[in-house]
Amino acid sequence: MTTEEYTFAKFSQNAFYYELNGRFVDMVGVKSGQRILDLACGTGQVTQLMLERLRGARNTVIIGIDHSSAALQQARTALRGKRDAALLFVQTQAEHFSESIKDKVDTVVYCNAIHYIPDKDALMEKIASVVRPGGTFAFNTSFYDGPQEPETALFQRKWMMKAIRILKQDYGLSLSKAEKVESRRHLTAEQYVELLERHGFRVVKKEVDKVDVPLEGWLDISKFKDFIEGAMPGVPLEKASAALVKAARQTYDELKITYVKRNWLDVVAVRV
Ligand SMILES: C[S@@+](CC[C@H](N)C(=O)[O-])C[C@H]1O[C@@H](n2cnc3c(N)ncnc32)[C@H](O)[C@@H]1O
Repeated sequence: MTTEEYTFAKFSQNAFYYELNGRFVDMVGVKSGQRILDLACGTGQVTQLMLERLRGARNTVIIGIDHSSAALQQARTALRGKRDAALLFVQTQAEHFSESIKDKVDTVVYCNAIHYIPDKDALMEKIASVVRPGGTFAFNTSFYDGPQEPETALFQRKWMMKAIRILKQDYGLSLSKAEKVESRRHLTAEQYVELLERHGFRVVKKEVDKVDVPLEGWLDISKFKDFIEGAMPGVPLEKASAALVKAARQTYDELKITYVKRNWLDVVAVRV
């Protein structure tokens, strides 16, 4: 596989993931006629979920932003021919979106990617300046510092320990401790609320969505570049991915489980 192929596409096809993002989009309640920014849109699943809820609303505009050209190409292909809204995709860092988006928007959704941003205050300042008063900012993430079921933590610990061992045994490699990846520094739900409030938003919905993740989910996330780099810093993608895949299988076998529970934080806020 080339680096470009380690996109999010495979993972996003998991039914549990499609369903949790669908519940999130329903929570947000996008409406026809809106100008919507889909930050870190990836391969376009959330864009598509919003389009399904806006069926027939031709006066809607959705702008998808992502830094991965491969992901955006997959989004364009997946959504080709959709006529329900004007769709525009822009390749840029989420941190720099305001250089491309000058007009106000009604809604910003930021799905499964806010945890990657090192300076969340700087980004929120930009989001606050683009959302019209009364408009919405909403995000979801499973990478937050919040309670997880005990068996989830056990799986996570065993999976990572095995992956590190496999990396050493099969490839003679170890992790680079110097490279700390942002997605490993998690905020609590309360810290996210404070972050949003600091930037002029009032949180109107905050829920934890409890999801059962089957083995395929962990195998597929092990083929996503951003996840691999977070879990196995400094290791070549292909070897890190292979170690994660092998370790996930071994951990499911050892624990004799068919799924692992995982909590997703869903937050919807209104611009005051
Ligand atoms: C886990 S995927 C989520 C995709 C989609 N929003 C969803 O919920 O299914 C994360 C996406 O964020 C993108 N991404 C990560 N950091 C980014 C950044 N700083 N700027 C723009 N895109 C970023 C990745 O390329 C990837 O497509």
